[in-house]
Amino acid sequence: MKFFIDTADLDEIKEANDLGVLDGVTTNPSLCAKIGVSDFEGHIAKICNIVEGDVSAEVISTTYDEIVEEGRKIASIADNVVVKVPLIKDGIKAIKTFSDEGIKTNCTLCFSASQALIAAKAGATYISPFIGRLDDISSEGMDLIADIRLVYDNYGYDTEILAASIRHPMHLLESARLGADVATMPLKVIEQLLKHPLTDIGLEKFLADWDDLQKSLK
Ligand code: E4P
Repeated sequence: MKFFIDTADLDEIKEANDLGVLDGVTTNPSLCAKIGVSDFEGHIAKICNIVEGDVSAEVISTTYDEIVEEGRKIASIADNVVVKVPLIKDGIKAIKTFSDEGIKTNCTLCFSASQALIAAKAGATYISPFIGRLDDISSEGMDLIADIRLVYDNYGYDTEILAASIRHPMHLLESARLGADVATMPLKVIEQLLKHPLTDIGLEKFLADWDDLQKSLK
């Protein structure tokens, strides 16, 4: 399973990348707004320099011609840029064009398996089902991952399922169980993945016992 970090914050990206387990980055307009990005293309270029893997940068256009123009510009920023396109009619048309041109895409704001099927038919590189936002409205986000996995496997689509809007480690674990190809998570969740109180207690005891042994040998 690939791990992406879901942020536009350069320090967080560097910190996750230093762990050695980071495969890519996803950004969106809200994440850029959160840290006050003023030079969008320059900022994406910086992220692409830090991380070797795919970096999703989202278009803000909503009509076909504008999405294609904006997406081509984003794609030219670096070799590892993925153009993130919303799952709307003009977005799907643009994804087909990008796919024909060899430009990688991340189809975002997916909330149903039928949407995911259309995105795969258009040739999206990634589909981003938003698990957390479905849970927020009392709908089972994880069922969507399972449905998309089933549909894609039925027909052999190679569009990668990128579990997005992940809020806690169980979202990641369930996505992995269900066969999502990628998970994008905030830094906080990446760090939570490796925490276990028994590990901390166990390590403290090992070190204390080793200290006692050294003292007894003096
Ligand atoms: C990533 O590609 C998505 O834009 C992101 O995961 C959305 O997360 P949120 O629902 O926490 O805003």
